[in-house]
Amino acid sequence: MKKTVIAVIGCGRIANNAHFPAFAQMDDLIEIKYACDLIPEKAQAMKDKYPAVQNVITDYHVALDDPEVEAVYVLTPNYAHYTITMDALKAGKHVFCEKPITVNYALSCEMAKQADESGKILNIGVCNRFHKSVEMLEQLNREGKFGNIYHVYCSFRSFRSIPGLGGPFTIKEQSGGGVLIDWGIHFFDLILYILGGARLQTLTCDAHSCLAKNMKDYHYTSMWAEETSDVENGVNDVEEFITGYIRTDKAGISFNGAWAQNINKNEMFIDFLGDKGGARLTYGKKFEFYDGETLVTEAPEYDIPDMYLRESRAFIESTRSGEKNRSNIDSILESAKLLDALYQSADLGKEVTI
Ligand SMILES: NC(=O)c1ccc[n+]([C@@H]2O[C@H](COP(=O)([O-])OP(=O)(O)OC[C@H]3O[C@@H](n4cnc5c(N)ncnc54)[C@H](O)[C@@H]3O)[C@@H](O)[C@H]2O)c1
Repeated sequence: MKKTVIAVIGCGRIANNAHFPAFAQMDDLIEIKYACDLIPEKAQAMKDKYPAVQNVITDYHVALDDPEVEAVYVLTPNYAHYTITMDALKAGKHVFCEKPITVNYALSCEMAKQADESGKILNIGVCNRFHKSVEMLEQLNREGKFGNIYHVYCSFRSFRSIPGLGGPFTIKEQSGGGVLIDWGIHFFDLILYILGGARLQTLTCDAHSCLAKNMKDYHYTSMWAEETSDVENGVNDVEEFITGYIRTDKAGISFNGAWAQNINKNEMFIDFLGDKGGARLTYGKKFEFYDGETLVTEAPEYDIPDMYLRESRAFIESTRSGEKNRSNIDSILESAKLLDALYQSADLGKEVTI
């Protein structure tokens, strides 16, 4: 079968760490006609590392104007997702756009509408839906092994992970928010996915930015995104800590998230509590399923590169068949709506009804 011609827009961290390594194993499916980045050295570095890249460009419109290009990957900071995706859909391209969809729910809905109007596939980078462990948990729930899941607790807390200040992760206008939209999106998306069709009802949320206020007193041992920011003095108007409670017609969901906290622990997990069984999914590692008192299933550590590969293969297959798959935007709008409502509750300082 003819290979699908793609263009990759944004050659930063996620492109380097996840997508290009996956593309290198998709020789049978794709041809990479363009690597694009505003910073030409970044796109060139990608071509140097992956000779299969045919052209290096800095203006993504060149790729959109090329009738040979069938699909584009949007791997840019959050603020650029909307414009590039809309332009690409209007140009008749299928789009894979990294998570979060964009900086808010209203724009996310416009993107979904445009995909429908253009008759093109628009998938979002909710890569965890392609974890083997997540698939297994989702299946256990469908088989009734949990009984009734009455509560889910999740923690996405780290010791020292505030991104360098003043870059696209800490300026709200560019990112849409802090730890909630950056990390929380993965956790809430997984929870809603595994619960399967839970309807959101009410929620309350509290957000703080304490540790990034006085960077001289903050031991930034493991900061990231430093190259695009002023580590100490840049703008930071997003939350680094978030907590709250969500009611759905299925389970209640409680959560704590922190890019940083003054406890030297990384606690990244989701607990699913059912009246027959329970499970802890440790993010990036394994899951344990308990049937009453007994540990029944201990899944092997899941393989992160494989997750991105499966996500990307599924996208290309979806562009060919026209069938929407599990990371199509339609099934992710609910988590974008949830994030908006959580930020609204934190801003108002009270419970909101969704
Ligand atoms: N799925 C995941 O697990 C995961 C993990 C990390 C990041 N992400 C998401 O991926 C996106 C990118 O994150 P990152 O860490 O790679 O950021 P990054 O800053 O390292 O890379 C983004 C790149 O996009 C380029 N860029 C910006 N605007 C552009 C434009 N108009 N045209 C071409 N290039 C442009 C920048 O120059 C930069 O090189 C974010 O939305 C982030 O939330 C997802």
